[in-house]
Amino acid sequence: MANLGNFPPSGDYAFPYRDLVRTQVLVTGGRGTLGKALCRGFASLGAKVWSLDMSAIQSEDEQNPQIQQRMADVRNRDSLMQVQQEIAATEGLDVLINAHGLQIRSDFAGCDEDTWMTLTDINLNGVYRSCQVFGEPMRKRGGAIVNIGSVNGVMVSGKGTPYGVQKAAISHMTKVMAVEWAPLVRVNAIAPTAIPSGMTKDLFSNPDYVLTKTNSIPLKRTGTEEDIVHAVMFLASSASGLVTGHTLMMDGGLSLV
Ligand SMILES: NC(=O)c1ccc[n+]([C@@H]2O[C@H](COP(=O)([O-])OP(=O)(O)OC[C@H]3O[C@@H](n4cnc5c(N)ncnc54)[C@H](O)[C@@H]3O)[C@@H](O)[C@H]2O)c1
Repeated sequence: MANLGNFPPSGDYAFPYRDLVRTQVLVTGGRGTLGKALCRGFASLGAKVWSLDMSAIQSEDEQNPQIQQRMADVRNRDSLMQVQQEIAATEGLDVLINAHGLQIRSDFAGCDEDTWMTLTDINLNGVYRSCQVFGEPMRKRGGAIVNIGSVNGVMVSGKGTPYGVQKAAISHMTKVMAVEWAPLVRVNAIAPTAIPSGMTKDLFSNPDYVLTKTNSIPLKRTGTEEDIVHAVMFLASSASGLVTGHTLMMDGGLSLV
């Protein structure tokens, strides 16, 4: 068993993720754009992956025998517990990646209560539930948790206000958990800028948005699935063995300007 939570990295610089090869990894939002990329990425290393999502399982999702597809809703603790019981009957989880999310664009004043509560229950409370249900057994076993935040949790974005508030809270929850769950569990987050995905297809279908966004980013590009998979692999593996409570900005410098 790899203890990714508290283990100094090896000197294997050519393949720093060797310790992820025989791990078990759970990805929430596993049938979303970034979730799918993460599932495939970890499976390609040899990890056994559990893909959890509220969306229906599609036949094309089933094709990789390394990826177990499960339906569950992060708003429903019982549905998470059912998956956890299955995992508990195996050798247990080494890595938890919270990659589910919902975006309903609104400013603060115009956000009605239903929208606020729905977004909070998925984007924030869903991570809280997932960490409690899947992360708790890691406190004995050791492991690594990576939460997907957003640059919107750091910068104020007019129409991304409720989502941004929840993503800011994810960064703080990451710090709280990192302290409380040390020394066996490391907890980190990433804060990406815009990436073409299910969540952003309306934005990326607008050439004006793409141009304006790209020009606003010092590195002059938006994110890719591969950017996310590499960063999450780093934070999940012992290559980042001394890193905990950190939110890694993945915004091409956007939040600096
Ligand atoms: N795409 C971006 O520009 C971007 C930028 C920063 C952060 N993020 C974050 O990255 C993560 C992945 O998003 P994405 O871009 O792949 O979007 P996506 O819409 O393609 O994927 C989100 C997935 O979450 C699932 N989901 C939503 N509510 C759920 C629930 N209650 N229970 C279980 N699953 C649920 C959806 O079914 C979907 O498959 C999210 O946390 C998102 O906030 C995305």
